[in-house]
Amino acid sequence: MTTPLPLSLFPFLLFIPAFCFTICHANSNLLCIESEREALLKFKNHLIDRSNRLSSWIEGGDCCEWTGIVCHNSTGHVNQLHLAPLSEPDEFATNAEWEAYYNSLLGGKINSSLLELKHLSFLDLSNNNFSSIHIPKFFGLLESLQYLNLSYAQFQGAIPHNLGNLSKLQYLDLRGNDLKSKSLQWVPGLSSLQYLDLSFANLSKATDWVQVPLKLPSLLELQFVILWFRKCFIFDQLIFSLHGLLSIDFSVNSLEGPVPDYFGNTSFLEVLDLNLNNLNSSIPNFLYSLNRLHFLSLSSNQLQGTISSAIGNLSSVTHLDLSENQLNSQIPLSIGKLSSLKLFDVSENQLNGQIPSSIGELSSLKYFDVSENQLNGIVLEIYFSNLTRLTTLKASQNMLRFEPNSSWIPPFQCQTIELGRWQLGLKFPYWLKFQKNLSELDISGAGISDFVPIWFLNLSPKFKYVNLSYNQLAGGISYLNVKDSVDLTSNRFTGPLSRYNNLHASDPIGTTIPTLQFLILSNNSFSGSLFELVCHSLSRGRIEVLFIDKNLLTGEIPDCWNHLESLKILNLGNNNLTGKIPPSLGRTGLHWLNLRNNSMFGELPSTLQNLTNLCILDLSENHFSGNIPAWIDDKLSSLTVLSLRSNNFDGYIPHKICDLQYLQNLDLSHNNILGAIPNCLSNLSAMAYRRYQKNYQFLWASTRTTLISFSALLMLKGREDDYSATLGLVTSMDLSANSLTGEIPKELGSLVELRSLNLSRNLLTGNIPDEIGNMELESLDLSMNQLNGEIPSSFSNLNFLNHFNVSYNNLTGQIPTSTQLQSFENFSYMGNHLCGPPLTKHCSTKRSPPDVANNGSSSEGSNVNWLYVSIVLGFVMGFWGVVAPLFFIRSWRHAYYLKLDHVSRKLYVSWATMGM
Ligand SMILES: *[C@@H]1O[C@H](CO)[C@@H](O)[C@H](O)[C@H]1NC(C)=O
Ligand SMILES: *[C@@H]1O[C@H](CO)[C@@H](O)[C@H](O)[C@H]1NC(C)=O
Ligand SMILES: *[C@@H]1O[C@H](CO)[C@@H](O)[C@H](O)[C@H]1NC(C)=O
Ligand SMILES: *[C@@H]1O[C@H](CO)[C@@H](O)[C@H](O)[C@H]1NC(C)=O
Ligand SMILES: *[C@@H]1O[C@H](CO)[C@@H](O)[C@H](O)[C@H]1NC(C)=O
Ligand SMILES: *[C@@H]1O[C@H](CO)[C@@H](O)[C@H](O)[C@H]1NC(C)=O
Ligand SMILES: *[C@@H]1O[C@H](CO)[C@@H](O)[C@H](O)[C@H]1NC(C)=O
Repeated sequence: MTTPLPLSLFPFLLFIPAFCFTICHANSNLLCIESEREALLKFKNHLIDRSNRLSSWIEGGDCCEWTGIVCHNSTGHVNQLHLAPLSEPDEFATNAEWEAYYNSLLGGKINSSLLELKHLSFLDLSNNNFSSIHIPKFFGLLESLQYLNLSYAQFQGAIPHNLGNLSKLQYLDLRGNDLKSKSLQWVPGLSSLQYLDLSFANLSKATDWVQVPLKLPSLLELQFVILWFRKCFIFDQLIFSLHGLLSIDFSVNSLEGPVPDYFGNTSFLEVLDLNLNNLNSSIPNFLYSLNRLHFLSLSSNQLQGTISSAIGNLSSVTHLDLSENQLNSQIPLSIGKLSSLKLFDVSENQLNGQIPSSIGELSSLKYFDVSENQLNGIVLEIYFSNLTRLTTLKASQNMLRFEPNSSWIPPFQCQTIELGRWQLGLKFPYWLKFQKNLSELDISGAGISDFVPIWFLNLSPKFKYVNLSYNQLAGGISYLNVKDSVDLTSNRFTGPLSRYNNLHASDPIGTTIPTLQFLILSNNSFSGSLFELVCHSLSRGRIEVLFIDKNLLTGEIPDCWNHLESLKILNLGNNNLTGKIPPSLGRTGLHWLNLRNNSMFGELPSTLQNLTNLCILDLSENHFSGNIPAWIDDKLSSLTVLSLRSNNFDGYIPHKICDLQYLQNLDLSHNNILGAIPNCLSNLSAMAYRRYQKNYQFLWASTRTTLISFSALLMLKGREDDYSATLGLVTSMDLSANSLTGEIPKELGSLVELRSLNLSRNLLTGNIPDEIGNMELESLDLSMNQLNGEIPSSFSNLNFLNHFNVSYNNLTGQIPTSTQLQSFENFSYMGNHLCGPPLTKHCSTKRSPPDVANNGSSSEGSNVNWLYVSIVLGFVMGFWGVVAPLFFIRSWRHAYYLKLDHVSRKLYVSWATMGM
């Protein structure tokens, strides 16, 4: 058996264990060999078999009949040992099922009596639990072995190098163990080897980048970490001396620098996967001569330069993935020669020029992804004429134009079409009418200015995701036949929301809307009441995210949120809603509630106490009144953003607010709040210690499916001034424009993580505490109070100050000298009795006369601008630091999505890339 197995047989080999349980007892007319039976019993005695899986292994029995044993059909020698457990329970399994599974795992010791089985060619111990032992050295003496599978069997310690003596071994799988190996020098000894898998074997010392996600405890909860252990082994050139090497999977390793040239010597290679390394050369020419390659992935590296026209030589390639690099050439015309190509992915590069017409020759093509490049020009119908098998067409975020003849009927039936930011013409694309299997559609930002045709709403029963955002679509939407996610942001849709229900009370709509998880209608002209939508259409819903902000909604928010337990994000901001907050909102699972800029009034209902997961509460710019409720700390202890800005709240600041340890943004400005600023505000831990700042990971940890969408929202909304101010991206406290009295508590000085403090337009008296100068503020506004005394000299330590205003107080003396304080305009100081630079008034030795009428304009404008810039900056930093690994490392992302609904990814992609 020295002829290499064709690669395609390997999946078959993997299946043997699974079906062996049913057919492996077929040796009925053979009796097993006595010595082998004894050896097996001895082997069994040292195993731990809690579920008694090996109950058929009994003294005196015919061992060829035992569970997991296969004997040779003529000699009767034990030939194969299949001892993997049955496959893992699925995700819906009960605890009892899991327990039964764990019980079925074999453990204990592996006795060397197995050496008696001189003809053993197949040994599968995978997925058991040998957690305390090493891979036995004697395995290196099982001379007949052809197949050895120890994957995920929890072996530890060093790999015995004498495994290299197994000259007949064809298949070796050591995946997913915690193994050590100083080198892989033993591997070339395996002269028959055809398959070697050391993935996840964690052989190398974890490098720093592997550790990164481990530092994020909330990600651990999400079980991301396993993916990072996909790192398989320390790179070892010796591996290339294996003759007849067919497949190399070096994905998720730390190969650095240029693509190593020894790949050029592996001319039999059919599979080369270098996905997710740090390779940064151009694509070397020798790769193009590997003309047996079926599968080539170089994705997620930093490869530069061109895709050579020599790529046409890879005539066997079916899977070509060059995505997520920095390739910046055109797509060569020779691509048309790859007649077997099924998957072509060059997304997320800097490719330019046109899509070559030769793609029209790729008649096997199923998956085509050129998203996120700089391709331009016109795409013609004829390019598609041979692409009859295409099921995935992804090309969003390019500068392409496609306006087929109105009679064009596509030759393909796609499940996914993503043409975001293409120019698809003013008319709604009629050719979509023939896509009956469509499940995911993104034609956002495509310049369409039309009504949504009726046929589209009925188009596909499989619609899961529809993104029509950022067009100029008008008219009403009579109903929606989409399972998971709809994004209609920024169009000109009009009409009442109630229509969803009214028109089709007995229609599919009754069953489709309730499965929606994401309904995004922001920035349209939907009008009227929320009643029908919330109380009828969504009532049995899985809805998690509901955005109807920036529309023309009127009337009260209906009181029927009882059954929307899944609702995580509700944004009704910037409408004209009136009335009180309905008590039933407290029965949802909201994490983010935004009712900003409406005309609502009344006191906050006590049921809001039940929103114990609430992180962001933005009720600003309404007419809410009453006291700030004292229950806010006990119940809403997760709050990171609390904005009650521009309402009619009165009374005192409750001391309870000081217990909100995660609060990063507190905005109580423009109300009628009285009394002193509580000293205890210094207890707001997130403003004092970075470790309390949660940067939204908490949201993700608690809700898997909104993970991506939420960060997408941050991304989108972060570009908008009005949202960014409340997103908690820069820690801030704004108590301005109230009637606060007394002195500024010196305790505030301990909030060293606070970046913006605004106490302006109150009735504060006394001196400015020295301690304020020890903070690390970027913005400080104390203007329009009755503060007196001097500006503390400690203010010269405020080195990061971008915005500063102490105007219209009763401050005296010299402005302290620092790099920052002199850089502000006069109006930051006007209306006081100050002197020295930047004011023109010199500090004479004597007290200065009043200096009220300094020149300068209002400070308001610059305040807003600064805050915006800084917040966006904070946002960008926060986002890229924390979220970026998630989205921009493709494998991780992909693997994660296996567990995640498709929907949220789509939301992410569209939001992250629209309107930049
Ligand atoms: C025994 O097995 C060999 C291959 O392992 C097969 O070719 C042969 O037909 C089998 N003989 C019988 C009697 O099943
Ligand atoms: C195998 O089992 C025998 C007795 O059954 C014992 O003496 C011997 O130490 C065992 N060897 C190993 C390697 O466990
Ligand atoms: C594996 O065995 C070890 C020690 O016997 C035990 O602590 C662990 O929980 C087991 N793991 C599984 C998955 O059964
Ligand atoms: C489609 O395939 C035919 C036959 O292989 C070929 O002649 C034609 O040029 C192809 N069309 C395009 C647009 O490449
Ligand atoms: C909002 O509604 C009130 C009455 O409920 C009305 O007076 C006001 O004009 C509306 N504002 C807008 C912008 O439609
Ligand atoms: C809060 O929820 C609990 C349990 O769901 C319920 O019994 C209680 O009435 C709710 N409280 C308010 C104020 O709605
Ligand atoms: C301003 O400060 C001076 C002393 O620095 C004090 O005499 C005067 O009363 C203060 N004026 C007001 C309006 O507080």
